Amino acid sequence: MGRFYITTPIYYVNDAPHVGHAYTTVNADALARWHRLVGDETKFLTGTDEHGQKVADAAAKSALSPHEWTDQTSMRFREAWDAMNISYDDFIRTTEARHFESVQKFLSAIYDNGHIYKDVYKGLYCVSCEDYYMYEASDHGKCPVHGIVLTEMEEENWFFRLSAFEDRLLEYYASHPQFVTPETKRNEALSFVKGGLKDISITRTSIDWGVPVPWDERHVFYVWYDALINYLTAIGYGSDDDEVATWWPHSHHLIGKEIIRFHCVWWPAMCMAAGLEPVSHVQVHGWLLVGGKKLSKTMAARGDVKLTDISPVLLTDEYGVDPIRYYLLRETALGNDGDFSLEGIVQRYNTDLANNLGNLVARVATVVHSKCAGVGPVAQMNSPLREHAELAVSETQSAWNRFAPQAALEATWGLIGATNAYLEQLAPWKMEPGPEVNNVMGDALEAIRLVSILASPAMPATCDEIWTRIGMAGKPTDAVFNESCVWAHETASRPVIKGDPLFPRIKSDE
Ligand code: ME8
Ligand code: MG
Repeated sequence: MGRFYITTPIYYVNDAPHVGHAYTTVNADALARWHRLVGDETKFLTGTDEHGQKVADAAAKSALSPHEWTDQTSMRFREAWDAMNISYDDFIRTTEARHFESVQKFLSAIYDNGHIYKDVYKGLYCVSCEDYYMYEASDHGKCPVHGIVLTEMEEENWFFRLSAFEDRLLEYYASHPQFVTPETKRNEALSFVKGGLKDISITRTSIDWGVPVPWDERHVFYVWYDALINYLTAIGYGSDDDEVATWWPHSHHLIGKEIIRFHCVWWPAMCMAAGLEPVSHVQVHGWLLVGGKKLSKTMAARGDVKLTDISPVLLTDEYGVDPIRYYLLRETALGNDGDFSLEGIVQRYNTDLANNLGNLVARVATVVHSKCAGVGPVAQMNSPLREHAELAVSETQSAWNRFAPQAALEATWGLIGATNAYLEQLAPWKMEPGPEVNNVMGDALEAIRLVSILASPAMPATCDEIWTRIGMAGKPTDAVFNESCVWAHETASRPVIKGDPLFPRIKSDE
């Protein structure tokens, strides 16, 4: 079996999480659950990015110390992920001692290897991006992402010789065609490298909220420089070389497209400079848009969107955990931008969950009770549904393996659709009890069993519930995937439970 180490960006704790952060985290969670399901040794890391000007400013505006503020806000991310059934194995905070140690070791290695020097930096800075802009790259002196006026900064800083890594980065891209996916984002990253690289300022003296520079204690590291290293801290960089060797070759960073340059240019160069192989894969996704604009903490703070409409906790309270997870995974292919709206949630819920999945489970339980004494009959080995099921298994599997949750769910829902069509065509509810109805219901139960394995990374609680309703013991994730996810008569002779509707239809307000 393989190994799979997946990470989300660590989120800034300048404000509460919104559904944009949930988008990344749910996708990473589903991917982690998929890999656990197929037996891969899996590690899933998320966490919070707690240093930098932006967080220091947010703390200063509150009545709290930076430590108190980050404790509180980091906790809000954890609460959101608990509410969304996120199965992270580790939650890292950049204010932890383990992170300070690893950052200082990593950057000292780069320093010792001669890739860091001192110089004066002058430029335009966006606090929301925590990044400098060339005037030409700005929007007439405003940040192209946040639209706020850039501030002139001048500092004596330590610099990383990024420019020296241009050729090695190009080589790395050439020899690792899958380093960045999808292809369009790989091209974007590559064009940053080809466009020429400037050395970057990696320390600050203007603030002291950060990780101290070990060779010059008047400085703290620039927030991005400390943040990227979190992915290594969590696998024991600097303290446990075996753990690093175990996990790093199987690392996958899932990120939003606005942080491509940091992850696909700076980060691999930093790893090379520290004497380490770069991360093996960066999967980039697009943005959730509200009214055509990127949903952001800045937008929420301005009141351009109602907080109740974008809070992961409140959304899951309103629509249920699995429907929100399903919507986030199913609505937009990883890599594309997608509109986020409550109407979109209701639409997906009513069609895919209430009409298709929920209705299938309900009608099968009803007919098994009315025609088969409530006990699962034997599926036919030559069932017309079997071919659909086998196709769904192989397509779902290959989609998850290529980081395509949307396509995976489409394939799984193909089997739900085929099963509903099969039932409609044969109308078992009109049949007399006997072998004919038994065959149809045996087939339908077997299809439902396979669906509850295949959909479990996306909707774990729902799939556990369906598994129980069709009389199976334990959970759909318990068995060895390759053995359990084949057409068989697993559901035969098991008591089927009729329960409440899994997804009662939502009536639109209008
Ligand atoms: O950039 N659509 O943190 P951040 C989709 N601390 N994803 C979105 C989104 C949206 N509208 N809004 C946010 C940082 N995200 C740094 C990262 S990593 C070493 C340091 C998600 O709080 C998406 O994953 O600004 C994006 O990349 C991330 O949140 C940015 O979170
Ligand atoms: Mg951001």
